[in-house]
Amino acid sequence: MEVALKLAYESARRSGRSKKPKFLSLDRAYHGDTVGAVSLGHIDLFHKAYGGLLFKSDTAMSPYCYRCPFNRAKPQRADAREYRRCKWECIGQVEQRFAARKKRGDPYAAMIVEPLIQGAAGMIPQPVGWLRRVAEIARGHGARLIADEVMTGFGRTGTPSTINDQPATSLFACHHEGVQPDFLCLAKGLTGGYLPMAATLTTQEVFDAFLGEYEDFKTFFHGHSYTANQVGAAAALASLEILQSSASLRARHQIEQTLRKELETLWQSPSVGDIRQVGLIAGVELVKNWRTRQLFDLGERAGIRVCEAMARRGVLTRPVGDVIVLMPPYCTTRVQVRRMVEVLGESLLEVFGKFPRVRNRASGPRTPA
Ligand SMILES: Cc1ncc(COP(=O)(O)O)c(C=O)c1O
Repeated sequence: MEVALKLAYESARRSGRSKKPKFLSLDRAYHGDTVGAVSLGHIDLFHKAYGGLLFKSDTAMSPYCYRCPFNRAKPQRADAREYRRCKWECIGQVEQRFAARKKRGDPYAAMIVEPLIQGAAGMIPQPVGWLRRVAEIARGHGARLIADEVMTGFGRTGTPSTINDQPATSLFACHHEGVQPDFLCLAKGLTGGYLPMAATLTTQEVFDAFLGEYEDFKTFFHGHSYTANQVGAAAALASLEILQSSASLRARHQIEQTLRKELETLWQSPSVGDIRQVGLIAGVELVKNWRTRQLFDLGERAGIRVCEAMARRGVLTRPVGDVIVLMPPYCTTRVQVRRMVEVLGESLLEVFGKFPRVRNRASGPRTPA
């Protein structure tokens, strides 16, 4: 993220687009813990203390359908994206941000998004079409698009079978909506999580802005002791080979479908307000009253207690506030996926009661998944 930020900043300056380039990111955004990434972040709990260290970035509304003030639909027992009633006001708000900057003669250098789903924000998925339209707005205003695919990359959001009507097996969230970003920030899944390795990809145009004769000093001066670490690169290559195999693709597709089917059982719990799944990422938002979307009081520690009950049953996961996160590793079997969801159901029953017992399926191993 730091590399994308610095490249976008400096290339905007070099092109004469802006003397002091500005950035736009989403409400509740999280892009890492280094100072540049924190400046693009908007989660007070993580970021507020460091306000004095940061540069200012603007915020655009994130498309959180379940809690969107513009969504006029009453809560239903379904993913809020499916039954929302709105006029895409969230996109209108992005447009307004760009228009306001343009009016001031100080356009954005770049907009930063986590494509398809914002993770640390609480697993907030974007309704279909949001990313494509926002990318068009950014491009229309001459801004670059920085896609933070640290969480979403490498098949985590599922594999689109076609891109712009062409057969494809892309590993990236952006491509689900035919969006090609100017910067693609990758980490976690690059090595399957085995070794620390990250990469920032960009376009030839940006690359060329840092290319010149020795005496021009156009070089991008940025590096770390372990930049281009050979062991990390070898792990990334090995991981990519597995990820791109048809067996892995098939297995991921199968566990995604199993997860989708099993999550349906959780609607039986009155403590479940929203269930949102994007590929192999699921967020289950717990509420005190699903009919009103009423939140639990902080002191009730609802999310934490549910995760503790899950851990006692051998499934380790963590809550983001009161959103329970399920992100099965790709080696998870379908039996284990069923068990993960079943354990979540059992834990909801233990913590909140009043929940008709979920079907007792053949259980998988009880070791932590
Ligand atoms: C969406 C997103 N962006 C950026 C980061 C930070 O990545 P790193 O820890 O490699 O700096 C994270 C880490 O969790 C993340 O989830």
